Amino acid sequence: MSDRKGIILAGGSGTRLYPITMGVSKQILPIYDKPMIYYPLSVLMLAGIREIAVITTPEDQAQFQRFMGDGNQWGLEFTWIEQPSPDGLAQAYLLAEEFLDGSPSLMVLGDNLFFGHGLPEILARADAKPEGGTVFGYRVADPERYGVVDFDEDGQVRAIVEKPDMPPSSFAVTGLYALDGTAPEKAARVTPSERNELEITALLEQYLAEDKLTVEVMGRGYAWLDTGTHESLLDAGNFVRTLQQRQGLQMGSPDEIAFNMGWISRADLEKRAKLFGKNDYGRYLLGLQ
Ligand code: DAU
Repeated sequence: MSDRKGIILAGGSGTRLYPITMGVSKQILPIYDKPMIYYPLSVLMLAGIREIAVITTPEDQAQFQRFMGDGNQWGLEFTWIEQPSPDGLAQAYLLAEEFLDGSPSLMVLGDNLFFGHGLPEILARADAKPEGGTVFGYRVADPERYGVVDFDEDGQVRAIVEKPDMPPSSFAVTGLYALDGTAPEKAARVTPSERNELEITALLEQYLAEDKLTVEVMGRGYAWLDTGTHESLLDAGNFVRTLQQRQGLQMGSPDEIAFNMGWISRADLEKRAKLFGKNDYGRYLLGLQ
């Protein structure tokens, strides 16, 4: 069991997905058969994390709570935190400072999907480091859209640059950050960037300066999917549908993970399955051994 606490950052204005997100938070949109936030939540659960802060806009919080509650149905404990305006990813550590109370954390962006054999193992490797931070690099065809890792000749990380015009490598930094208990004090030293945000890269730079940042590369056997545009949102849904139908297994099911982890009983699982009536998701839960 990890003593790390989890953070899901699920605020933001979602303007890139307007008009859809004018009425609903991006992280509630469906990725095939589940709300988007189920997928990043599943990543934290696979890392063995049960205490999770969910950061949303004040307007959207009640809607998230309607289907996520206090986390008890999954053997989790949610702390709900509001982010009044999207002032940057590093701000999450300031908002969650009290919740973290000095603990190390694993933060995931509420719109990031990860899939791959061995995910729990690489998460456990990051978790095993008592100090410093680990971020995950992933090769993409369009690095200029992301935070990008700059490696020196020896493969050591020199810098992480946010949305560079000339990407120094093809490795994007994914929206998953395993940081030690010093993250909030480091976040407090970050000043707003040109686009007026507290950038996560400015926080990571401080770990780099202390020589305490590991970039773990997620190889080609992993899928890291993005939901930033209408096309990529549909692609992510199709990916989930294809895989689930082929394998007969669910991707990103907090119900299944909670059951497999022993955090909920079979009776709890059956109670949940009843909520889903006779749909495939409910039937799948009932069939779990
Ligand atoms: O997805 C990985 C990328 O996420 C990283 O490679 C970049 O380094 C990182 O800056 C971030 O880039 P994005 O362009 O995707 O950031 P965006 O502003 O779209 O925010 C990502 C998600 O976090 C989005 O769903 C909204 C949410 N968010 C964002 C901000 C700035 C918040 O909840 N609060 C915020 O203040």
